[in-house]
This record gives sequence, structure tokens and C-alpha cells, in this order.
Amino acid sequence: MSILDTVKQAAIGVMVKLTPETPADPLIRQKHGALGSSTPRVDGPRKVQGQARFAAEVPAEHMTYAALLYSSIARGRITALDTTAAEAAPGVAFVMTYRNAPRLKPPAMFLSDPRAAGTSSLPIMQDASIHWNGEPVAVVLAETQEQADHAKSLIQVEYAAERASLSFEQAAMHSHQPENVLGEPAMIQVGDAEAALAGAAYKVDRRFSTPRHSHAAIEPHAATVWWEGEQLVVHDTTQMLNQERWTLAGIFGIPEETIRILSPFVGGGFGGKGLWSHQILAIAASKLSGRPVRVALSREGVFRVAGGRTTTEQRVALGANADGTLAALIHTGIVAMTEHNNCPEQFTFPARHLYAANAILLEQRVADMDMLANTFMRAPGESIGTFALETTIDELAEAMKLDPIELRRKMEPDEDPTSGRSFSSRHLLKAYSDGAERFGWSARNPAPRSRREGEWLVGMGVATATYPYYRMPGGAARITLTADGHARVATAAHEMGMGTATVQAQAGADRLGLPVENVVFEYGDTLLPAGTQAGGSSQTVSIAAAVAAASAKLIADLLKRAGNDSPLAGLSVGDVEARDGGLGHRDQPERFERYASILARAGLEEVSAEAEAPAPMEVMQYSMHSYGAQFAEVRVSAVTGETRVTRFLGSFDAGRILNPRLAASQLRGGIIMGLGLALTEETQFDERTGRIMNPSLAEYHVPVHLDVPEIEVMWTDVPDPHAPLGAHGIGEIGITGVGAAVANAIFNATGKRVRDLPITLDKLL
Ligand code: MOS
Repeated sequence: MSILDTVKQAAIGVMVKLTPETPADPLIRQKHGALGSSTPRVDGPRKVQGQARFAAEVPAEHMTYAALLYSSIARGRITALDTTAAEAAPGVAFVMTYRNAPRLKPPAMFLSDPRAAGTSSLPIMQDASIHWNGEPVAVVLAETQEQADHAKSLIQVEYAAERASLSFEQAAMHSHQPENVLGEPAMIQVGDAEAALAGAAYKVDRRFSTPRHSHAAIEPHAATVWWEGEQLVVHDTTQMLNQERWTLAGIFGIPEETIRILSPFVGGGFGGKGLWSHQILAIAASKLSGRPVRVALSREGVFRVAGGRTTTEQRVALGANADGTLAALIHTGIVAMTEHNNCPEQFTFPARHLYAANAILLEQRVADMDMLANTFMRAPGESIGTFALETTIDELAEAMKLDPIELRRKMEPDEDPTSGRSFSSRHLLKAYSDGAERFGWSARNPAPRSRREGEWLVGMGVATATYPYYRMPGGAARITLTADGHARVATAAHEMGMGTATVQAQAGADRLGLPVENVVFEYGDTLLPAGTQAGGSSQTVSIAAAVAAASAKLIADLLKRAGNDSPLAGLSVGDVEARDGGLGHRDQPERFERYASILARAGLEEVSAEAEAPAPMEVMQYSMHSYGAQFAEVRVSAVTGETRVTRFLGSFDAGRILNPRLAASQLRGGIIMGLGLALTEETQFDERTGRIMNPSLAEYHVPVHLDVPEIEVMWTDVPDPHAPLGAHGIGEIGITGVGAAVANAIFNATGKRVRDLPITLDKLL
């Protein structure tokens, strides 16, 4: 089961009844409202005043603090385990190992079921076996974190190590094709691409490597958990509340209704804030000890137990006809994965939708290794896939003596090149021309090493950004309208810093015709109507569709209650629109009544409606994506090989931009993460031991302020008529294409092509 299967299943029932075109969201046409304005973050004041309470800050009576002990071998068995000294250490309340842990079912793996959140299907602390270097082997609960950390250091463990698959090169020799890649075929062939490549007028055939990356959100993973009899309360930092609840219910063998998960604030998710072993262990230890447990992973802990992006080897081969159209497009490669997870870094996805070509060959293979399960990390696949693809495009342009933007114009497809579907909304070339003008692309000299300022070689590069549009099925929302003209919009959604609470308050305001100050968006709690996961850049439209359904129901109810004395008498939902704090006839301004008046006549303090979003049919009908053109200017020191990015511009085509202030922040954040991908980030994996060697921000280098130039962002702001609110996702598009834009700029500066990330100074000397 995959995202697409889930969508299909949900869609099948309605498919028969539905006309192929669902009507466009009326809010797409609305020009004056809260949407489109730079409303400041509604959660901003609480955050800057320190009043926003994160998972590791939730207080509890008789709290215990957890420390996890991590295995030091990659594969094998525990042969001896002595916890006596730890148990006797000051402040220790409880020690859990596989010997006293409760029997737990393995987590249901993400995508194995639409409700599943497991990031790995391995059993958690159920026997003496070890599956990766860093796997938790003991949990210590103590009165303070320091006491727990000290006691954990007293535990003696002996292991019998077994042969482990730790060399990517060797694992790659036994690679296999996964059943699917996020529900899409692992291999796609159009014509005979190898033959077309061989006969092409121009060809470039290149190999790339990309490293592991670790999640490094500002807020490390944490949970505060306790049991109230049979009821389980979990304060977590998560981007999948409802899936986490369903999965925990399966692991602990308890009904879903007995679990409440709260996650009102998440200090960065990026795909990493899923269900890992630390939450499960904390819940189990709390059950056995009868005490609340706080597990707040150290930065090292995040590196050991929460997986990130995996390593890849990719081949991109392009064959062009003399006129600049593509004869052959080949993108293949291998990713490292474990046998117990399913995140094969969809690096071929960009090549499925970006360019017209006579023949196409795309294949992803998987190499099994004994390591921490990898997972989603901001544009998994697309971020590193665009690095390989867009660097090769640049090489082809160089070979053909064409401007790289001009070459992309010649390869622009009329329809999706692999699915044959129409694009719902694609203005990539406009993003390119707008961006090129603003960035001053015409000033670039295509000859490498043509610009030098002192020791600095200066260059400019460009690359395409792309990320799919997803809308997750199954989300619901409840709207409660009160007689004083205020509304609460509620769904178990996630605010991870990207602005969900703000934008959904704006959307709720426009949907109901209320000022944004009168709308409160409630989220982050499984007691609310089920939300969808905050993943795949899908949350905004997923919520919007549920809110639209709930508001239609609410309006129908209000019309019914309005009765014969109302100016709205006899009107149906299709005749009216929400405006000015009430409902009015679309074309007859005088037929209008305020909500307060409708409710007063009906003798009600409030009305409420709840509905589920309709199935995301649009993703079956169209090829839907966000796009962008990323422009970089770099300086490379001819003396040290050090690269400094001095200017950056992202020009995006991502449907309607709902809040320019928050969108700019989201897109810039993605670009900054892309600079890390391009230049500094690398999780170093010791192939002798399977140990991650740099589990700290001192050694794992995310960009700091001095690494980040002023970043300009701009957008086409063309609404997609087939998407709720006309919007596409913007959470992940920002990181895509950045690696190649920087690499291409480095080539323009130095004449050197680096095809192995990160582009560190040693590779440029
Ligand atoms: Mo994203 S990697 O789907 O949080």
C-alpha cells in the first residue's frame, strides 16, 4: 500500500458517481480577503514570549527522565547485560531492557496501511538481537536527566557481533528493484533509451553520489508520556498525529480511543518527526514503572535513533538531437536502505515529469544495509535527484554551447512525458524568465573561469526545482460558528513552524466571510477531527478541502435554520456566498443576513458542522507539481577551494501564494537546507562498524548565518484551478534544485564539475 494506492482506494467509491471535473474552489477567484495577505504568525507572540509549550516542556507530577543506551555493534546479539550498578545508582527509578520490557507488536510500517506511522517494522526491544549500531538496548528512568545519564553509563553490555552489511559498494552489488517507489513503478521505460543515447548528436553520461543526511531540526525529538489507568497520554513532537495513534494502538494492543496524542508545537519536522523507538520505549517504561516519562533525545540521540536521508549512486545520461530536443533521458541508480523500512529516496521522480524526450529509462534499485532505517527528509528523492539531473542538463548545455535556460525551453513538454496526463498548472518557463531578469542572468559569461576578483573565482549557475502536488485523503474538519460572529476551525493538524495555524485561520476567514481575527484554528490534538499527516508538502490543501466540505455543510444547515422570515429564504448552498460576517445571494446584494441574526432567530448560541474532505481526484486526473528556477552566484577561493554562496534567488511556480510573508520564510528555509546539501552536510558512516561518526552539530555541518547570503524569493502566483485554494505545496520545493544550481555555479566559476556531494574544498583543489 502506498500514497497512490491509498488515494486510489479512497477514490474508487466516489469515482463512479462523480463527473470527471470537480468544480473549482470558489475561493480561487476571490481577490480581496485574508488569503494572499501577509498576516503575521498567529503563534508568533506565544513563541517569542516563551509561552508555547513543546513536548519536552510539559510538566507532570512524579516525572521521571529517560536515558537510552545505544548498542555499539551493527548486528548480532547481546550476550551479557548487567544493570545492577545502574539500578543502585542515585535517583534511579527503573531500568528496562529486553528482559523485562512488555511484549510489543512491531510497528506497522508507514505506507503499509494509510493509518500507519512506523518508520521501521523492527520489533522494539523484544529480544537480544541487534539490528543497527545505535539501537537502544536499555532505558533508564531517574528523578533527573543527569541521574539517568549517569546510571546508563554504569550498564555493562557484551555482544556477539555477526557479519553485517556495512559497505554500500558491496551491498550495491546485490541491489534489487523494490516493489514500488512510493506507489509508483520502480522502473519506467519509454522506447529504447540506450539505443537512442548511442545514436544521439550530443551525449553526456555521468555518475553522481550523494551522502547520508541526518535530521537536525532545532527541536530534537522528545516526548512526555503517562498512563491514567488504561488511558495513555502522549505529548509528542510529531507530523502525523492520527497515524501515530493508530500505530501505537497496534503496538500496545489497546483501542485507539484510549490514546490521546498532543503536539501543538513542533520545532521543525522536515520528515523526521515520525514514530521512532524512543516514544515506544518511553510509553512501555512508563507503563511498567507507573511514572510519567520524559524522553528528550540528545543531539547524538537523534542521530542514533531517528533516521534521515540515505546515500545514493546515480547515473544520468542525456542524448540530444541537433535541434536541442532530447532523444534520450536516462536516470538510474541505487539507494541504501534496510530490509525493514520502505523509503527508497525517489530520486527518479523529477525525471518522470520535467522534460520531453523521445526515449526514457528510469530505474531505482535498493541495496540492503544493516543501519538505522532511513526516512523522509525534505524532498526525499527530489532534492538529490535534481542534483544529478540538473547538473547533467548543465553539462549538456555546455556541450551544445547553448544557454542552459534556452536548452530547458527546447525540452519543455506539452504533457507529462511518462504518464501522458495534462499538467494542471505549469508555468516553469515563466519562473525562469522572471527569475533570470531579476537575478541578472544575462550578465553571466558562459565560459568557465572568466570572472576573477582577487583570489575569488566567481560564477553563476541555474537549475530547476520540482516537487509533486499531493493531497492526502481522509482528513476531516469541524467548524463551530458562534453568535458573536467568531469561528473555530478544528482538525488534528500540525504546526511545525511553517505557518499552518496562520494560513488556515486566513482560509477559514475567507471561507466564512469573517475577519481573520475572528477565526481560531485548533490543531495538534487527536481529540479533534482526524487530520492528515504533515508530509509530502500536502497539508495546506488537505486541510483546505476538509474545511471547504465542513463549511458547505455548515452553510446548508444555516440556510435551513434561517427559515422563511430570512432574506435568505428559499436559497440553496449554490446560490449563496459567505461575506461580511454572514451569508448573501451571489448576485443580489440585498439578500443578505448576518450569522448573528440567523443564530439569534433560531435561538442558538452556536452551530457546528463536521465533514471529511472529498477524495483527491485531481491527482488521478492531472500531473500536478510545484516548480521553480534556482539561481546561484558563488565565489570559490583559488587558494583554499572554499566556496561561498554570495547571492541566491529562487523563482517559484507553486500555485497561489496564500501568505507571502510565511511563504517567503518557508521557501528560504528550503533553500538554506539546500545550501547545506550542496556544500556541508554529510552523515559520516563508519563502514567497519556501522557507527555514525559525527553525531553532533559541531561535526555535522548545517549552514550557519555566515554561510547564508541574502536570499531572494519570488513567485508566479498563478492559481491552479484544480487545487483547493488554487495552491500547491511549498514545504519541500525550496530545497530541490539548489544542489545543482550551486554545483553549476561552481563549474562556471572554476571549470570543475563536482558530482559527489557535499562539494567540500578538497574536491575543488
Ligand atoms: Mo516531508 S520529507 O514529507 O516532512
